[in-house]
Parts: sequence; C-alpha cells; structure tokens
Amino acid sequence: MSVGIDEISFYTSGQYLDLKTLAQHQGIDPNKYYDGIGQEKMAMASLDEDVVTLAANAALPIVERVGTEAIAAVLFATETGIDQSKAAGVYVHRLLGLNSNCRVVELKQACYSATAAIQMACAMVARQPARPILVIASDVARYDLESPGEATQGCGAVAMLISANPRILEIAPEVGNHTEDVMDFWRPNYRTNALVDGKYSTKIYLKSLKRSWENFTEQSSTSYTDLDYFCYHLPFGKMAQKAHSHLARVNKSGQTPEELERQIEPTLIYNRAIGNSYTASMYIGLCSLLENSTEDLTDKRIGLFSYGSGCVAEFFTARVQAGYQQALLPHKHQALLENRKELSYEEYIELYHYANPTDGGEHRLPQQTQGRFRLAAISEHKREYISV
Ligand code: HMG
Repeated sequence: MSVGIDEISFYTSGQYLDLKTLAQHQGIDPNKYYDGIGQEKMAMASLDEDVVTLAANAALPIVERVGTEAIAAVLFATETGIDQSKAAGVYVHRLLGLNSNCRVVELKQACYSATAAIQMACAMVARQPARPILVIASDVARYDLESPGEATQGCGAVAMLISANPRILEIAPEVGNHTEDVMDFWRPNYRTNALVDGKYSTKIYLKSLKRSWENFTEQSSTSYTDLDYFCYHLPFGKMAQKAHSHLARVNKSGQTPEELERQIEPTLIYNRAIGNSYTASMYIGLCSLLENSTEDLTDKRIGLFSYGSGCVAEFFTARVQAGYQQALLPHKHQALLENRKELSYEEYIELYHYANPTDGGEHRLPQQTQGRFRLAAISEHKREYISV
C-alpha cells in the first residue's frame, strides 16, 4: 500500500506589497529584491486574517470534496501560534464542521513542523488506511521594519490530505535528518516579530542540507541522479538556487546552471508572489511545481528539503502518481493570486503597526478579507471566528 498526498490546496491573503514599492521607499535598486533574493511581492494578512482563517480557507476545497466525516485528525503546523494552550486547529475544526470524533493537535519547530506532521500522518494512515489525515501548515512571517529580513515577509497556508493510495504523490518512507541547537532565527514569547541572524541562517540552512542528504543516502538507495525535481524550503526564491547548486556540488553532478535551474524553477512561481509563509512555504512550492510544470510529471521523482531554523531539517522523496492533474486546483490558485489588491507603502505600514488588543475589551475587526472565514472580533480575550 502506498501513502502520501491525495489533495493539496493553498490560500494566501488578498493583498500584497510589491517589493518595488519597498525598494522605492528605501531608495535602493528594486533588482536587489527581484533578482538578488528572487522575490517580487509579499502577501500581507488583513486585520481580520490570521493563521486560523488562512488555514480554514486553504482546507475548505478539500473538505468540500471529501466531506466532513472522512477526516480522522487535523495536524496543524505553525510558528505563529495565537494561543499558548489551545491549538489553532480546534477553531478550524469548528469552522469546517468536522466530526467531533476527529483528533486535533498543533505542532511547532519553526518552518519544519509541517514535514513532521506529514510524516506522522503517513504513519497514522499506515496503521489505519481508511482514515485520512488533514495536515495544515499556516503562518504569517514578520520581521522588524528596516531590517534585512523585512523584504522576506509574507503569509499563507497549505492544506494536504494524507491518505492510502494517494492520487498526487506517494511519499517514500526513507528520510534523512539533521538537528542542531543553533540561534539563527527565533521568536521569544514576548515578541511579535522574529529575530534573525540572516547571513548565518543561510549558512546553517546549507550545512543542514548537506547533513540531511548524507543521512538520507545512508537510509535509502536513491541517488541524486534518480531525482527529477527538487523542492526546497523557500524563505526566498534565491535560497533554493543556492541550495540546489550546493547539493549538486556535494554530489559532483557536473550539471550546467541551466540544468540546475530547470529542476527547481517551477517550484518558485507561487512563492515569488507570496513571500515566506514559514511552515507552508515548501509545500506551496510543491504545489507550484505540480501546477506549473510544462511537462507531464507522472512517475517523476521529487527530492524535498524541509528546513526549520533552530534547527531541524529533513530530506525525503516522493513519486508523482498517474492522473495527478485531476486532483489539483490550478485555476483556483492562479485566480487567487491574480485578484489581489496591491497596497501602497502607507497602507502596508498601517497594517504592519496594527497590534491585537490585550485589554480584554470588546474589539470588532473591520471586514477586509476576501476569504470565506474571518476573525470578526476579539472580546474578553476570546477570538471570534465566523464564516462570511
Ligand atoms: P541582505 O543583507 O539585505 O542582502 O539580506 P544582501 O545585501 O546579501 O543581498 C542579497 C542578495 O542580493 C546578494 O546576492 C546580493 O549580491 C544581491 P548573493 O550574494 O546572496 O547571491 N543584490 C543584488 N542583485 C541584483 N541587483 C542588485 C542587488 N543588490 C544586492 N541591485 C538576507 C539577505 C537573506 C540575509 C535577509 O533577507 C534576511 O535576513 N532574511 C531573513 C532570514 C532568512 O530568510 N534566512 C534564510 C535561511 S533560514 C530559513 O530558511 C528559516 C526561516 O524560514 C525561518 C524558520 O525556519 O522558521 C527564515
């Protein structure tokens, strides 16, 4: 029996800041962002959006297809937690009308935890093949204004149904891991913005890739040349290019820059317009590959590298299933990205400075989101989510 991804759907905010606008405000060449880091736009969550609404909107098309009774568990990966105790997925469970027998839990390890959720879901499905698991990764990436990280913000959520005999991707059981206690990126409980040692984080990312790959080759007979495409965690597009060149060097592949580019370029299209969405980033990249590749990917093998600062990393592989195209939602995703509102610099700053109230009073939030679910109010310290 094979286990893997049967459905994949993502969602992001309906508004974005073009990095040309940011560059103009900073008085620098926009090509630093467009070419230097490989990003064009960053999605900005509206006042009535957070990881719960992004997640519920991402998962809705899947639940509409498979029904509310089919899902045995929701594994919710995020590093933008909205509560120290209650799992964000419990709100999503109600918004989507899932069965009360469905188990819900939240997982954290920076951008890596969605991959942990997928591996756990695969193990659960292997034990009970008739019970699919909904994995959701949802995050809002925030850095300090005027810091090098500012241009690498973004937000988004991806929902994936993990099932037996999946229609999109079979996930191979062999994985390679690297874990190391480092301070490259972190967010203490008292801060809304992440702290990051940017250049160091890119070095640790590449070191973790090499270590995970080495561990993977000890576990699996799959070699570098067996893999057709590569999905990397995408804090920004250029990171995937650096990572893929690094892995090719480690394997002495002798590929030309064009050959290397061909193996990653379709994974970068959606993220270039969304920005970093932490846990969701690599899986939005995977969706981008599946929906934007010009060749039929049936039977192609994909190498995936998941990285979460701090750090935990994993290299694993998957094989594309025949007929995968029928299970995808390219028109929905492309329309979502095309119909967004562009923000002025002033609107971006106003959104950026909005802080959730902490006084326990009654605070209603303006309706801004274009999604089906919104955060309507925060009253008496309770978040009130509704369907629109
Ligand atoms: P920076 O210091 O602003 O950038 O920050 P830079 O000056 O090094 O320039 C970036 C690139 O643009 C360079 O190319 C320049 O040459 C080029 P490179 O040397 O890297 O190949 N450049 C230009 N290109 C064309 N035209 C121009 C031009 N000017 C410059 N005019 C940095 C960059 C990534 C450090 C910053 O954005 C940052 O701190 N970002 C946040 C941290 C991050 O994303 N780290 C990635 C690895 S860690 C990770 O992935 C985990 C994470 O997702 C969190 C989690 O796990 O939860 C972050």
